[in-house]
Amino acid sequence: MDSSKVNLFYLDEGNYIFSASLPVAYRELYENIKGCCVNYSQGVTGVLLSDAIRYSIETKGCILNTRLEEKASGFGKRDIKGTYLRITLGQRLGKSPGVPYVLEILPKGHYSPVHNHGNANAIIKVLFGSIHFMIYNKHVCATDSKPLKEFSAMKGDITCVDRNWYQTHKLINKSNDLCASIQCYNYDLEDKTHWPYFDYISNNENMAECMPDSLDVVKCMKIL
Ligand SMILES: [Fe+2]
Repeated sequence: MDSSKVNLFYLDEGNYIFSASLPVAYRELYENIKGCCVNYSQGVTGVLLSDAIRYSIETKGCILNTRLEEKASGFGKRDIKGTYLRITLGQRLGKSPGVPYVLEILPKGHYSPVHNHGNANAIIKVLFGSIHFMIYNKHVCATDSKPLKEFSAMKGDITCVDRNWYQTHKLINKSNDLCASIQCYNYDLEDKTHWPYFDYISNNENMAECMPDSLDVVKCMKIL
């Protein structure tokens, strides 16, 4: 919760991490993305970006639909529901796995594998729709493991992934519309051994490595 919104009751209940209390690694990410949204005024863009994304996902031949089809076999046997879209924003800065700022889109009913984040910290803000988080033991190694905690985050909610806490999760879009979130990453300053991959549990229950890649945002925006 942004510290500017904290009242006496929130202080007493202790249900949130307040932004001013965030460790330095998170604080930079949080401040940079807290104002981000998907939909700006139609008067400026001519179309709601969420409408353009939905159309591109649902229409055969459009870039997002094509990319999802390409990724359907990316985590083992073909599974279109096990696909999602990562659209990087900006360049690699050498202090996170891949590009630090990523617009992540899960079509309705889609989910990620159980995966960790290469020991990086992350801030995740839901920009459109809602997403269900399942949090696992950091060193989980079987797809049938029980999550330690589950919760749903709605548009505007911000959550975090720590080097040691909440590092391993699975995301599911249980809603009837797409979900878009911005996910951003950096390593701890003390972390000098950078692991560039996200590790995930493949369909055959082996740990596998995934290089965080993406669509090119300029190409994507043009086609949208
Ligand atoms: Fe993740």
